[in-house]
Amino acid sequence: MKNVSINTKQALKHIPTPLVEAVSEQVYDGYKTLIRRNGPGNDFLGWMDLPVNPDKELLERIKNDVNEQKKKSDIIVVIGIGGSYLGARAVTEALNFSRKPSFPEIAFAGNNLNALDLSLLMEKLDKKNYSIVVISKSGTTTEPAIAFRILRQHLIRKYGENEAANRIIAITDKSRGTLKNLSDLCGYPTYVIPDDVGGRFSVLTPVGLLPIALAGYDIEKILEGAGVIAGMCLDENQVIYSPAYQYAIARNVLYAAGFDIEILVNYLDNLNYVSEWWKQLYGESEGKDGKGLFPASVSNTTDLHSLGQFIQGGTKKLFETVIQVDKVKHDITVPEIDGDIDNLNYVAGKSLHQINKIAQKATTSAHLEGGVPNITIAIPQISEYSLGQLIYMFEFACGISGYTIEVNPFDQPDVENYKSKMKKLLKG
Ligand code: PA5
Repeated sequence: MKNVSINTKQALKHIPTPLVEAVSEQVYDGYKTLIRRNGPGNDFLGWMDLPVNPDKELLERIKNDVNEQKKKSDIIVVIGIGGSYLGARAVTEALNFSRKPSFPEIAFAGNNLNALDLSLLMEKLDKKNYSIVVISKSGTTTEPAIAFRILRQHLIRKYGENEAANRIIAITDKSRGTLKNLSDLCGYPTYVIPDDVGGRFSVLTPVGLLPIALAGYDIEKILEGAGVIAGMCLDENQVIYSPAYQYAIARNVLYAAGFDIEILVNYLDNLNYVSEWWKQLYGESEGKDGKGLFPASVSNTTDLHSLGQFIQGGTKKLFETVIQVDKVKHDITVPEIDGDIDNLNYVAGKSLHQINKIAQKATTSAHLEGGVPNITIAIPQISEYSLGQLIYMFEFACGISGYTIEVNPFDQPDVENYKSKMKKLLKG
């Protein structure tokens, strides 16, 4: 199977060699801290090994739950926020084009406080059979906790206490937190989020794997793809060839050269939630102690007609990391028409994806001229395997990058700050 690849030439071309060399050394130190597991936050490194020795028992249990739910649910409502939400959403939306109708639809809830979203969802659930997967590591986060209270009541009204208990699965800490206590009390089965895996690094635990499998996608292929990248990253002799390491070098060199905004760019909007997941991963991991690259995203060609102007001509602090998809499953060829009355015959015979790739090439070239460095990450197609590779690559490069800029990439003290302030205000 073809692997993810990276091109950093256009990113580093104009950077003075001594700076590239100095930062490369810092990145190597960051890498050593990560794999020797002796940096700050080293009790949260469980994610590194998840695809190396996949938990067979867990995969079997997930398979059984999927078979069970397929029989009785048209919709699975996945409740969670942040790291307990974005990974599953990123993968299921990216793969939506290959959705199998025999699997339940996935609906997400508890990731905001928008009453309209929840009302519309409940109207839909009135008419469908559904189950709930509720995910919270702490078990106390306000948004998912509120959504769970409301939807649990809806479920119990619809099916009664006993059947509702067969339609709720919780994913949470192994022993602590309100969600764990409530689940034990009401007899809801629980999956464990390992102690040594933080929220934003948890997509390859049940947090991501169960919802993705319920949606009908092949989680073993995701782990296989991630495992290939992990194999390179965890081997000190191989790591310099890994896209994760090369990505870490390029982005940190650019940061040191004064580019402090990284824009993740896609040309297929089904990757938008991959960008959202990536933004959380990097934003929460690097943005602390007054440091860090600001992670932003655009979806082209849509955003070439909005933020494109700023990227081309605005403040020179940005660089782009483009996710290039070589082949797509669904393509359409532009027809030729007699008389060429819409003046478009110059693209007749080309497919939309071909035109999209030409747009990418033209945009990269224009932005380079506008002083915007470019990193390109290419995947052969959107598949479970390549998404698994991207996930591990981004996670590993994130761990290296955090240590390179000397922050703890595995805590999020400032997120906790807002959570406790909000609770205080709500309690009056
Ligand atoms: O990455 C993180 O740790 C956070 O984004 C959390 O995932 C998010 O706040 C949700 O927390 P919890 O799973 O405890 O409900």
